[in-house]
Amino acid sequence: MSLSLWRGARLATLTGSSGYGLVDDGALLVQGDRLHWVGPATALPAGLDVTAEHELHGALVTPGLVDCHTHLVYGGHRGHEFERRLNGVSYEQIAREGGGIRSTVGATRAASEDSLYADAEARCRQLMREGVTTVEVKSGYGLSAEHEARCLRVARRLGATLPVTVRSTCLSAHALPPEFAGRSDDYIAAVCAWLPELHAQGLVDAVDAFCEAIAFTPVQTRRVFDAARALGLPVKLHAEQLSDQGGAALGAGYGALSADHLEHLSADGIAAMARAGTVAVLLPGAYYFLRETKLPPVAALRRAGVPIALATDHNPGSSPTLSPLLMLNMACTLFRLTPEEALRGMTVNGARALGLRDRGQLVAGQRADFAIWPQAQGCPIEHPGELSYWLGQQVTPRVVWGGQERDKA
Ligand code: NIG
Ligand code: FE
Repeated sequence: MSLSLWRGARLATLTGSSGYGLVDDGALLVQGDRLHWVGPATALPAGLDVTAEHELHGALVTPGLVDCHTHLVYGGHRGHEFERRLNGVSYEQIAREGGGIRSTVGATRAASEDSLYADAEARCRQLMREGVTTVEVKSGYGLSAEHEARCLRVARRLGATLPVTVRSTCLSAHALPPEFAGRSDDYIAAVCAWLPELHAQGLVDAVDAFCEAIAFTPVQTRRVFDAARALGLPVKLHAEQLSDQGGAALGAGYGALSADHLEHLSADGIAAMARAGTVAVLLPGAYYFLRETKLPPVAALRRAGVPIALATDHNPGSSPTLSPLLMLNMACTLFRLTPEEALRGMTVNGARALGLRDRGQLVAGQRADFAIWPQAQGCPIEHPGELSYWLGQQVTPRVVWGGQERDKA
């Protein structure tokens, strides 16, 4: 099979477990959708059948970005709640009054599947514009068998239509829908009953839940995870966002791919995650937008060797951002991650939070998903640390996804 050669690159390979893995004057050989060879141009193997050559003139090349936690599929928005919160009403209070997630459930149910798709596609394209090549999309605003299936079909359609890899996560245990008011155990039973059907339709890659005082208890979370386990589906969890419910340790007991948010994570939770290899997904957008003050325990996670990932958590209530680069910056300024940790969080560790080991580093055998960062556009990115630097700027890389250059749509 023929090869395409990308040369003249400054590569941030992210190989090994630390460092950028910089290779100046680097080259990438792509075969089909995979990286065939990566290294310094001086070591390029000779005598290969190279059919296309691209000179990058010293541009920085990183793995494509992985946004491992989003809620892209929903109707309406919650700008009015943002204003209420700024007038002193808390996120929890709005949720208890039936607003919050449940107000988005109403708008999502009222929308047609095509309009849900059109909105989700526009959002997904915005993530892609900033270098995202893999994105996770959760359900969780349908909250009935029919409406959860619609949201997951929209996620699958994104993956089938756009040049991006989409992983779909069933988050039916996100909030209690109004028709189950006062009957949360019955709702959990309903979720466990429809999960096999959604899975049989090929709509689910993983199962998530929101374990929180305003959502579901640890016991209810276990029931959902038992149902997932019975189907062989991996689990992940919204855990310790607003209070410590012991969710991260619970998830780790199920070998969870990730526990996400984690502002209120305890030492026991960290130890359990380290033992299980569960990734800590930090979401600085939600921390910022909810004006939280309790920081996730980054130093302790680091000491315990828990892999740290970052994501946009795009959703209409707690994190309406569609900028992965802004999340890199905020992870550094708010959470004190280093720019290197932030980039690993949105590449190799983001992939790991989705159970994907074939992407996130530039090394032979991995998927040929990479971003070529601009040296101009007013915001040049010449070193990988600068990806965290251009606060709030629109930086648009060239992107190769599965070996093919994407249009700048
Ligand atoms: O990840 N925490 C729960 N779920 C979302 C927020 C959903 C919403 O407010 O609509 C999150 O922050
Ligand atoms: Fe979330």
